[in-house]
Amino acid sequence: MSKKINIAIDGHSSCGKSTIAKSISQKFQMRYIDTGAMYRAITLFCLQNNLISEGIVNTKGLKKHLDSINLGFEYNSENKVSETFLNGENIENKIRGLQVSENVSFVAKIPFVRKKLVLLQQEIGKEKNVVMDGRDIGTKVFPDAEIKFFVTADVQIRAKRRFEEMNSKDVSFDQILNNLKMRDENDTRRDTNPLKMAEDAILIDNSDKSLEQQNNFVFSKIEKVLKNGN
Ligand code: DC
Repeated sequence: MSKKINIAIDGHSSCGKSTIAKSISQKFQMRYIDTGAMYRAITLFCLQNNLISEGIVNTKGLKKHLDSINLGFEYNSENKVSETFLNGENIENKIRGLQVSENVSFVAKIPFVRKKLVLLQQEIGKEKNVVMDGRDIGTKVFPDAEIKFFVTADVQIRAKRRFEEMNSKDVSFDQILNNLKMRDENDTRRDTNPLKMAEDAILIDNSDKSLEQQNNFVFSKIEKVLKNGN
């Protein structure tokens, strides 16, 4: 790819942002960064160190540790996934469970956590050629991103997809639905960097779209920018 660009993908929880980002990453050889994984990693750290209980974070304790937390991504060529590491440990599976999902919004709303992670994300994006997904990428992390997508889908459809994907006897459809509703609410209502569609973002509602339709749409938008610059 000759022209170097950054692509921001924001949207609601479990609407397939990472699927889009991974497809873009493969097709256009761009680096994929999952910023949700970063908030999840900090949440796991809080859970492992008794810094969160019933939605209340011990912010003093977390602040003390935050600068020594080492977050990283490593590409696993076997399963073609960029995996998340916390202080050297591969935590990719641990951060996807319901316990982290149930607690992550409480950590993600803390201003000093967001400040640290946004700076880290901006640093990663400096060299360009990055596709990043999250909630505030187009509005806060890369307000000048060459392309921004805002992805959404009906919450019932998102919960059904997630339920089928998890395929777990321990988690019910209603638990997943309630968790998604709670996260939508927390993500859009928090004071610091709430989830909001950037004015210049391209909206994708994939409630009734196949993956192929979605990819065709997304790829054509990117190819147009790479060719014409807009
Ligand atoms: O994308 P995800 O579901 O893995 O994100 C986990 C949580 O992290 C989600 O509830 C919102 C939060 N998040 C955020 O606040 N800002 C981001 N840039 C990415 C995720």
